[in-house]
Amino acid sequence: AKAVETLTSKLQTLGINEVPAEPNTYPALNPFDLYRSHVAGLLSKSTGIDSKIVYPALQRTVKTEHGDLQMAAAALRQKRKDMKEFAKEIADGFPESPLIEKVVVMDALVMFWFKSQPLTSLVVPAVLKAGASYGFNNFQGLRDPSDPSKGRKKMIVEFSSPNIAKPFHAGHLRSTIIGGFLANLYDAAGWDVTRMNYLGDWGKQYGVLAIGFDLYGSEEELVKNPIGHLYDVYVKISAVSREEGDKMKELKQKIEELKKEDKDASELEKELQEIADNGVDEKARKYFKRMTEGESVALGIWRRFRDLSIEKYKKTYARLNIRYDDYSGESQVKDESMDHAAKVMEEKKVSEISEGAIIVDLTKYSKKLGKAVVRKKDGTSLYLTRDIAAVSERFEKYKFDKMIYVVASQQDLHLAQLFKILEAMGYKELAAACSHVNFGMVLGMSTRKGTAKFLDDILETVAEKMHEVMKSNQAKYEQVADPEKTADVLGISAVMVQDMKGKRINNYTFDMDRMTSFEGDTGPYLQYAHARLCSITRKVTAAVPEVANIDLATAADLTLITEPQGIDLVRQLAAWPDIFINTLKTQEPTTVLTYLFKLTHALSSSYDHLQILGSERETMLARLALYTAARQTLNNGMRILGLSPVERM
Ligand code: ARG
Repeated sequence: AKAVETLTSKLQTLGINEVPAEPNTYPALNPFDLYRSHVAGLLSKSTGIDSKIVYPALQRTVKTEHGDLQMAAAALRQKRKDMKEFAKEIADGFPESPLIEKVVVMDALVMFWFKSQPLTSLVVPAVLKAGASYGFNNFQGLRDPSDPSKGRKKMIVEFSSPNIAKPFHAGHLRSTIIGGFLANLYDAAGWDVTRMNYLGDWGKQYGVLAIGFDLYGSEEELVKNPIGHLYDVYVKISAVSREEGDKMKELKQKIEELKKEDKDASELEKELQEIADNGVDEKARKYFKRMTEGESVALGIWRRFRDLSIEKYKKTYARLNIRYDDYSGESQVKDESMDHAAKVMEEKKVSEISEGAIIVDLTKYSKKLGKAVVRKKDGTSLYLTRDIAAVSERFEKYKFDKMIYVVASQQDLHLAQLFKILEAMGYKELAAACSHVNFGMVLGMSTRKGTAKFLDDILETVAEKMHEVMKSNQAKYEQVADPEKTADVLGISAVMVQDMKGKRINNYTFDMDRMTSFEGDTGPYLQYAHARLCSITRKVTAAVPEVANIDLATAADLTLITEPQGIDLVRQLAAWPDIFINTLKTQEPTTVLTYLFKLTHALSSSYDHLQILGSERETMLARLALYTAARQTLNNGMRILGLSPVERM
């Protein structure tokens, strides 16, 4: 309400009597909404076409050379033979406006340029006033945008979801990065977001792990490094189990041969039986059975592995600015829920018995979906079974309006099966509320090269590399207060930005040299751009201390920004709220990242033309306001991505 008031008075000075607004637009939050509404109003008057048609036809341009808004004449859905002529008519008929500089026609495209002075005076103070929330539109998550008292919509973002005692592989890394971003994004859009980690923490392999711990485990190591230690134990015991498996095969073969020759095989049979009864596999099966039956000793040991692993994960996630509201996992899915799901599937004739197992034949919906097993012959549940039951449990618990699974595209089929089964069970709305946000693979990140295994190792390696890069500039390096910490943050930024640069579905190559470079569109480059803006403020306040007490949003005269580079920068700043809304549609981190790189490029073209120190006081304040607004916008965008902007590096 306050923002609308300021905007109204500002527009009145320009001769516009009220803030124009189309439904579902937020002119006080988004300069482009204001301009679109204003231009739509004028066009609607001059052409006689309903503004409901005009409004969506007005699009933000991609290139500043094409003006600020563009409209294809055809988008007005009029029956006209010659669209080029129509475009020209529209342009010729466009009235004088205090906000619009010029209208230019290119073929059948009408392009609108904003007048720079009202733009700078509208946008820069708006950014400074909104501060850390500039660009965020928290109406998006409201149940009813016109009545906030009706509350916010509920979302679950399930992401990362590693498996205990297994490596944290590239798929988990990407899920962590992309999921963290989505959770931040929807948070900023006003949704009530629950961050959920669905651990792979159930199954016979945890029987194997417990047996292994008995043989190879060390209490001390477990407490010191639970994730790494459990993995080592798992690798060792798995090797034993594999050997036993091979041995059994070999024995069976020999026994058969002996029997064929009518020779006595009893010795070998005894040996085989011994492994079958007391081998790792059987012991693990029995152990896991005790776990599923709720036997407290077996469960206690497993729970300890789980708790210690989570504790360790929490620390690593904290390095990435991520915290979870719910550490759930496959183990948490209740038998009752799975039994209930099984009953519904049977009653609705979704499932059928096939060779002793229970399956769902999804080929009747689509060949690609295939047949999915939901209960093994021995009656045990599967990954899919647990996912089916988990959906209802999560709905009971959170009553979510939307749930996003951030999982690698290798599991496209699994999730498509899950959603289809829910639908077939009659949970149509629930199925529609679920969505899979997928992503491609990371290439060149093999365990062999020592680059990857656990998240911590990856972060450590990159931080070291970043530390080296920082040291190569000795003079600067000496000014950084906590170089280790900064190197860690820069390393994380390097990894994250590389991950988020392309479309999610694309594979990319893990390239340590490339990602840690200060040049090109990298994480360190973004951080550098932010640190440089911080240093501008530091330098100005050191030279002119009184600046610290000036409210730039009201005191700076932004009409003094006249340089084309400065105006271009303001045009970039104006676009951020619109980019934010667009990101909710694309769900692509690259939408934000591409924008941030454009913004930083506009910044680096500005520095030479808009110097602060040495310019007149009023000019200095205007430029400082502009750079401060740029820093704020860059900072907001970085935070949505999950980066921690540094002030020095
Ligand atoms: N733990 C699984 C894995 O590592 C990912 C879990 C994905 N989420 C789910 N609800 N299935 O492959």
